Amino acid sequence: MKITLGISGSIAAYRMPNLISQMVKQGHEVKTILTEPARAFVTPQALAVMSNHACHTDADEWHNQAGVLHIELARWCDLFLIAPLSANTLAKLAAGMCDNLLTSAVRALKERPLLLAPAMNTAMWDNPFTAQHLDRLRRIYQAEIIPPVSKVLADGEEGMGALAEDAQILAAVNRYEDLKSI
Ligand SMILES: Cc1cc2nc3c(=O)[nH]c(=O)nc-3n(C[C@H](O)[C@H](O)[C@H](O)COP(=O)(O)O)c2cc1C
Repeated sequence: MKITLGISGSIAAYRMPNLISQMVKQGHEVKTILTEPARAFVTPQALAVMSNHACHTDADEWHNQAGVLHIELARWCDLFLIAPLSANTLAKLAAGMCDNLLTSAVRALKERPLLLAPAMNTAMWDNPFTAQHLDRLRRIYQAEIIPPVSKVLADGEEGMGALAEDAQILAAVNRYEDLKSI
């Protein structure tokens, strides 16, 4: 399956090269979009090496003279996955904003499933905006949410908000593969 993977600015972005490696081993083709804040947590080079594709960042949108990159990345995929989904990108998507490569690509999605794996601090997760924004994305994009898990978070506190385990994310991805082949 062709997967466009959006990676936003959660500390859990560091896990994405490993997750991509597992997806590629399972036969998926993965192209990545990295937000600017996420570059603090994972390098474009690590993502490019593990996916065998260039990692796309905001600057590429303006240097891709052959076409319009956010449209191409939305059309190319069979499945659009965002992992980790930060509170900020979640809020922007729920408001229909498209001010960077990732949010523009999602806004351009049509007839492609959207799978979201949020990750954030427990207080951010518990903020009523989170449920409201996720509900909106369920209604507007029929998005599927891979719920976060409870563990000791990067801030040292234990609670809900950690990115789901790799196995959970892979299982959710592979369910779409099964649906495609029906
Ligand atoms: C060390 C560190 C860890 C962070 N972890 C998270 C996180 O897990 N989830 C989250 O929503 N925001 C987290 N943030 C805040 C986001 O990076 C920030 O809101 C940023 O604007 C997100 O931008 P983006 O959605 O465009 O990637 C973290 C920030 C720092 C400095």
